[in-house]
Amino acid sequence: IIPVITIDGPSGVGKGTLSRRLSNILGWNLLDSGIIYRILASIALDNNIDTNNEIKLIMLIPLIKIDFLRKNNRFIVLLNKKEIDKNIYTEIIGNLASKIAIFPKLRASLLRYQRKFCIWPGLVADGRDMGTIVFPNAMVKIFLYASERKREQRRLDQLQKTNFNVNFNCLLSQIRERDNRDYTRKIAPLIPSVDALMLDSTDLSENEVTNKVLTYMKQ
Ligand code: CDP
Repeated sequence: IIPVITIDGPSGVGKGTLSRRLSNILGWNLLDSGIIYRILASIALDNNIDTNNEIKLIMLIPLIKIDFLRKNNRFIVLLNKKEIDKNIYTEIIGNLASKIAIFPKLRASLLRYQRKFCIWPGLVADGRDMGTIVFPNAMVKIFLYASERKREQRRLDQLQKTNFNVNFNCLLSQIRERDNRDYTRKIAPLIPSVDALMLDSTDLSENEVTNKVLTYMKQ
């Protein structure tokens, strides 16, 4: 049986950093499931595909091959063998991703796609529904959360590091809108799995969060 650790939670809680660190330390594969929704949203946008057309979005799935490549302890995301465009991380794409993430048939079509990342020696899966729906039998489940202020600050830092021009007020409302959509959607809403460890990252450093999870895994 292949061990899986799931990291779920809203945006800006540090899921991405934690997942990548754990994947490096444990030598396990990585699945950043948010990237899949972002890629579908971005392809639709670039090709004038109506993002309300669920069937057309589903037809894109077989056309995308995603690899999370570890290089000197950093990750490169490849889309069809080419490094992914940094614009995928903008809040515009994030917001569009959350709009298409409400479609039940699309989510169902992505189940098998996501489970294929579960290969030896293990998987760290980052997302919103990893512990509840995609990997319900995962060995360890973590639900990360943090205060809204801290999450917004982290997201801002992250976007600025990538040299994106961001307007703080605009960002706040975009993040709130996206969170609200993720929490309230009918299918796979953002809720903790009953067997997840609830971890508040508000006042913890990246190192502290990682160490807490590693200690919990050893128990
Ligand atoms: O980086 P951040 O956590 O802000 O977002 P992300 O993980 O890249 O995900 C972007 C959007 O995709 C989320 O707001 C969700 O609506 C959707 N998503 C989802 O529905 N299920 C997942 N497992 C991962 C992402």
